[in-house]
This record gives sequence, structure tokens and C-alpha cells, in this order.
Amino acid sequence: ISTQSYQSATSAPSNIAIVKYWGKKGIQEPVNPSISFTLSKALTKTAVSYQPGDAPLNIEFLFEGLTKPDFLPKLQTLSDRLKAFLPFLNSGRLKIESSNTFPHSSGIASSASSMASIAKALLAIQKQLDTSQLPDDYRQMLSEMARLGSGSACRSTISGWVLWGETLALPEASNKYGLSINQQVHDSFNDLQDTILVIRKGSKAVSSSLGHELMTHHPYRQGRIEQANKNTIALLKALKDGDFKAFAQICEEEALSLHGLMMSSSPGYTLMAPESLRAIKRIVKFREHQHIPVTYTLDAGPNIHLIYPKSQSKVMLPFIEEHLRPLCDNQEVIYDEISID
Ligand code: PMV
Repeated sequence: ISTQSYQSATSAPSNIAIVKYWGKKGIQEPVNPSISFTLSKALTKTAVSYQPGDAPLNIEFLFEGLTKPDFLPKLQTLSDRLKAFLPFLNSGRLKIESSNTFPHSSGIASSASSMASIAKALLAIQKQLDTSQLPDDYRQMLSEMARLGSGSACRSTISGWVLWGETLALPEASNKYGLSINQQVHDSFNDLQDTILVIRKGSKAVSSSLGHELMTHHPYRQGRIEQANKNTIALLKALKDGDFKAFAQICEEEALSLHGLMMSSSPGYTLMAPESLRAIKRIVKFREHQHIPVTYTLDAGPNIHLIYPKSQSKVMLPFIEEHLRPLCDNQEVIYDEISID
């Protein structure tokens, strides 16, 4: 048995979906296509250390220096699923240490960035050990690996605009991995800002996993699948044409639909807070008065993502600071933006 150990350190960003992935089938495949952009500042950093050995794989996990027992089963499932890609995961000792660059429990979806960074770090270990079973171009494989950790994570291994899931609009799109669509996006969408209004910190009452599950027998399931397919095609067109108005309409329809689906699940639930609605109303009113391109979206939580082109930052900043920051938990606002290589 070798006493040599192998190390890797890497990071991956979070992403924000405009067309939402909501509902899954099979092993972490989406019931509908989704489109997102990858962020610049909200990252998960992961360091992995691996010691080969004969005993079945042993995993130790630390998040920001502390053990997180509830995350271990997820990692166990991930490593089982990744054995087909990374043979070293069959045995030995694995230590995974992750931390986020964004504030602790700020309510930012961290499963995408954390699973993407873990997949990246594990692939880096396999590369040091033996590359004979790895493809020459492993970008697709990396996205697929991240998906097996958390669906939306497959969009976090790719920069900029990403499409995940089969759609009539793009024959090469897949349910297994994300696809870069940067080549088909108008320049005016390449500097989008994502200002995150942290309406409530801390963990959510209902997890995304349960939310996905509730879609399986949801009364509006078929309608939702049709809506997401239609919005994917329409969003691809808006992105290509540089049509912010069409973009904003789809963006808001998707956010409100996502929360509508939660409310109409059985049992129904709400993840918005009163301040989320207050912020939405202020944003819409501001847009009506100022006639500027700005829109918003929400993930499966109460926080608002305010989306606008960089050229609008001067107008947006005073509005955010004066009218939106006071609605936030501990007055927390995170200024992030798209990352494109
Ligand atoms: O990847 P998951 O299982 O955490 O699901 C994410 C679902 C949403 O964030 C609500 C939408 C999306 O497409 O990212």
C-alpha cells in the first residue's frame, strides 16, 4: 500500500437560473430544460486529499472547518455514482474540505457551487493517479459528474450562459450535462449584474429536494413542463436578439411560476417572505418610472436576484441602497455579476 497522498484544490461558482429546473426523473435528470448564467463572486472552494488504500472508500467532510454530518450521505451517494467515471473512488481515504466565498448561510443556493467544485477537485485527483480512462475533452464529463451531485451544479462547471436539458430548439442539448450557449447570446447580455437581496438568512423550511419530489404528482405538472419548454425556446430567441423586454418577461414569469408551483403542491408551502413581495413591487414600480432594463428572479427561497445590464449600475445603485437594502436581513446585499471566460 502506497503512503503517498494526492491533493487538489479548486473552486466553482454559483449560477442563477432564468428558466427554472423544477422536477426530476431517473437519476437526477430534469423533467424540463433550464437556462442559467454563472456568477463571478459567489464561489465554493474545495480542497481534496486522497490516500490510496484497499479498504472501501472512507469519506471525511469539513465545511468551513466544521464537520457537517447531514452532508455526508449526499457525498456518499455522489461518490458511488462517480465510481464509473473516477475508479479511484472505489477505495482509500478521502478528505474533502469546502468553504464559500459568500457570507455563511446567506441563503444563496450553494448546492450548485459546492457540488461543481467537489466534482472538479475529484477529477483533478483522478488525473494525478491515472488518466487512461478519462476522455481527452472532459468538460462534458465534468458537467455530468456535477449533475449527479446536484442537478443545477451541471450548469456551474461552465462559464456564462448554459442550457441544460433536452429541447426542440437545440438538438445537441442533453439531460445529462450542461451546454454553453455563449455563442448564441447577444453582447448586451454578456455583462449582466446579479445583485442579491438577502431577504432571509439561514436554511429554508422546505428543501429543494422535497420541492422536486412534489412535482412528480403535481396537479400542474404537464402544464409546467410545457411552459418551461416554451420559455426555453423564447428565452433563446430573446438572448440572441438582445431583447431585454422579452427576457424580463420570461424571467419574472419563471420566478413567479416556481413559487406558484410550491404554493399549489400537495401539501402546499411558501418560501417567499413579506419583504420579497415588497421588494418585487418596488422594483416593478421603479422600472415603470425610470424606463430602464431591470428584472428580477428568485430561486427556491425568499431572496431576490436583481438583474440588469452593467450600463445601468449608476441608476440602480442609489435605488438599491436606499429602497431595497433596508428590506434585507441584517441589511445584506451581495453585488455579483455574470462570469464569461
Ligand atoms: O440543483 P437543485 O436540486 O438544488 O435544484 C435547484 C432548483 C432551482 O434553483 C430552484 C432552479 C434552478 O434551475 O437552479
